[in-house]
Amino acid sequence: MLIKKSSDIKSSEITSESAYINRRKFLKNGSSLFLGGVTSTLGSGLAVGQYGDSLKARAPEGIQVGAQAPWLVSKFKNIKPAPDREPFFTDEELTPYEDVTKYNNFYEFGMNKGDPSSNSNEFKVEPWSVEISGEVSRPGRYNLEDIIEPHGLEERIYRLRCVEAWSMVIPWVGFPLRDLIKRFEPTSKAKYVEFETVVDPEAMPGIRSRFAIVRWPYREGLRIDEAMHPLTFIAVGLYGQTLPAQNGAPMRLVVPWKYGFKSIKSIVKINFRESMPRTTWVDLQAQEYGFYANVNPDVQHPRWRQDMERRLPQTLFDRRVIPTRKFNGYGEEVASLYSGMDLSRYY
Ligand code: MTE
Repeated sequence: MLIKKSSDIKSSEITSESAYINRRKFLKNGSSLFLGGVTSTLGSGLAVGQYGDSLKARAPEGIQVGAQAPWLVSKFKNIKPAPDREPFFTDEELTPYEDVTKYNNFYEFGMNKGDPSSNSNEFKVEPWSVEISGEVSRPGRYNLEDIIEPHGLEERIYRLRCVEAWSMVIPWVGFPLRDLIKRFEPTSKAKYVEFETVVDPEAMPGIRSRFAIVRWPYREGLRIDEAMHPLTFIAVGLYGQTLPAQNGAPMRLVVPWKYGFKSIKSIVKINFRESMPRTTWVDLQAQEYGFYANVNPDVQHPRWRQDMERRLPQTLFDRRVIPTRKFNGYGEEVASLYSGMDLSRYY
């Protein structure tokens, strides 16, 4: 990826230690409140409608994520909390909300980590529609409500490992991609799924920039069995709130065992096809970025190591370097998808 090395990260991009400690306190308090919530929920026999009260993670109070459609707001009152077990949950420390929403890769809004949050004020997610095309029985252009409304929302706490060797732990809100795919009835020829991000030059300065390196739209793809895997997720929110623009509003992909660039944001097109799609990063530098992009500490990036990662937020005193795990720690669930494949060739 055309990126900065870890040593190039400016101290202004790194959270100050006091802010970090305060957030850790917030999260710690949040989790004990959660445990309290469970006890009382069980004790009083409250049912499904109370889900939202026991979410594992909520954004700090007072956070405003922009205008939201009423139907979406009401869905966020009823989110099924993450279970207490892997793989849909990890008890690793959550990356604070502020870091998740201010340290981003979304080149449509600019190349620097702070650009997506600073430059996305003009971005509108209403009206929004998603085109479903290719090898499906029910192709068409569906508005966002048609896409999301039939699905119950759930919370999932996943690790996100970027190919640039930083990582986060993020509490997403959304639903499994497989549930969405099934509704459009893919034909037997649907071997791959291709995704595209919106192209909105007026609201996306990165697209207008003459230094842009990407041929827009940003495109990604999965094999159909990867897309149908229960871990593969469509996120419409994080920390119990709708997605901020910089994180891929109104809906994005999350594939936790793959490098972050597979998790395409602000999706407007889902195309089912027989052949492997060309994807943005393969187009840009195929020797460095493969179609599969499974997190793999045994396959080094030509320009940097992949066997370690920096768990954000770093501090001036602690770079928080940890070993990278194969398939980002989700090997038990996904390794069988690649049995018999040479993962150093199909990287
Ligand atoms: N999707 C689009 N459309 N444009 C992008 O630049 N960046 C990818 C991915 N999805 C990107 C994208 C990369 S490199 C990463 S690491 C993740 O988004 C980062 O997601 P986050 O900013 O929510 O942490």
